[in-house]
Amino acid sequence: MKTDVVILAAGKGTRMNSALPKVLHPIGGKPMLRHVYESTLGLPNARHSIVVGFGGASVRDEFERGDEPILNVNWVEQKEQLGTGHAVQQVVPTLSSKDESTVTLVLYGDVPLIKRETLDELLALANADTLAVLSLNTDKPQGLGRILRDSTNRVRAIVEEKDATAEQKEIREINSGIMAIPTARMKRWLAELRNDNAQGEYYLTDLVASAVGDDISVECKTITDSFEVLGVNDKAQLALLEKHYQNDQRSKLLNSGITLLDPDRVYVRGQLATGCDISIDVDVIFEGKVSLGDRVSIGANVRIKDAIIGSGCEILDGTIIEGGKLGEGCLVGPYARIRPGTVLGDRVKLGNFVETKKAVFGEGSKANHLAYIGDATIGKDVNIGAGTIFCNYDGANKHQTILGDNVFIGSNSVLVAPVELADNAFVGAGSAVNKNVEEDTLVVARARQKTIQGWTRPVKKPR
Ligand code: UD1
Ligand code: CA
Repeated sequence: MKTDVVILAAGKGTRMNSALPKVLHPIGGKPMLRHVYESTLGLPNARHSIVVGFGGASVRDEFERGDEPILNVNWVEQKEQLGTGHAVQQVVPTLSSKDESTVTLVLYGDVPLIKRETLDELLALANADTLAVLSLNTDKPQGLGRILRDSTNRVRAIVEEKDATAEQKEIREINSGIMAIPTARMKRWLAELRNDNAQGEYYLTDLVASAVGDDISVECKTITDSFEVLGVNDKAQLALLEKHYQNDQRSKLLNSGITLLDPDRVYVRGQLATGCDISIDVDVIFEGKVSLGDRVSIGANVRIKDAIIGSGCEILDGTIIEGGKLGEGCLVGPYARIRPGTVLGDRVKLGNFVETKKAVFGEGSKANHLAYIGDATIGKDVNIGAGTIFCNYDGANKHQTILGDNVFIGSNSVLVAPVELADNAFVGAGSAVNKNVEEDTLVVARARQKTIQGWTRPVKKPR
């Protein structure tokens, strides 16, 4: 069976009060529309169409750019939003017509938490002669389309809230909007749609009555997890789904054996891969692609983005890591800032108020306090004293600093790049080093200490 996946995303999303098209607002750091798209990945013989209207160009742009571009989508524009049926009508000319067994799966771009297993179950019910609707039993049916069944419990139609009688409004089974429709028949039914209803819209939901009229069976897959079919119309609903999504992520972490000191206070906005015996304290945020090795421990108030953290690393409170690779047994923080291009060998220590950027550290090297280390290659067992600054920028260009193994930089030194210090070089505290330093030498680059005897301190002038 071929599946034509059609994602409706033309709605303006007025209530989001935002310049960003609604479907690009993120859940767990990923645009809602990407969640929907990904829920259908791997469906056999699937072809994807996305109906866009408001902000269509930027929606397409988001899909086609970035780290993981999605290029195989059939983008369809719906210039005027005349209803869900009208939206699907726009796709019809581009749908595969030959194969009679094709089913069209309609999804909404603003219903992001739909699960793959649910779609599989829905599609299993649909075929060339059966339309399948995903419905939900809920005690809050307000505003949604109701499923009308006959005395034998067969589905007869869907009625929109605004067209419903008082009696129909009592129905607790609602239409999620997600449907699997035999494509060949759908084309005919869509062509016959009328908009003589309370909203003057072309309702996709009217296809159910069309199917019944043609003696085509209508099946319902009914679920009870409302989050799967909840749509986002405003920021409160976005926040609600975000919370639900985060709770799911937390459960996954707990189930895989991670210790979360307070599960409500860890956030995963991306992909997190984990080893075993990991402990995570409160208010920790993971973004992008992060991988944590075994026995990693993470303190409170830590943000880690796009990073690989080796086994046995300890990340202390208040640390920010944004792009980097840490070897095994590193100790970072409290209050360290690790920026893109940082690569730490095993057992490297970066202490409080140390900032690194494009810096490669050999095994066992340390910068325990207050330092800026940028554009550098550092050997093994190097000790960088408190207050050391790597001057990598001359106001126009960035330059490299290279330190050999076992180099010692005394506190409050400045290394003016480009500069190289060979193995075992030793820099006296407070030095400004702007020339290369040879192996096994001591360099002191500061004014000599002078002592002035009998000096008198200034005294305050009388007024
Ligand atoms: C629709 C269903 C209703 C169901 C509800 C579930 C119809 C007529 N009604 O309601 O039975 O209970 O969803 O949430 O289908 N869209 C377009 N173009 C349009 C109109 C809508 O792309 O012209 C998109 C929207 O961006 C949205 C989705 O379709 O992603 C649903 O539209 P929305 O207005 O939220 O749904 P309702 O019509 O209220
Ligand atoms: Ca509507």
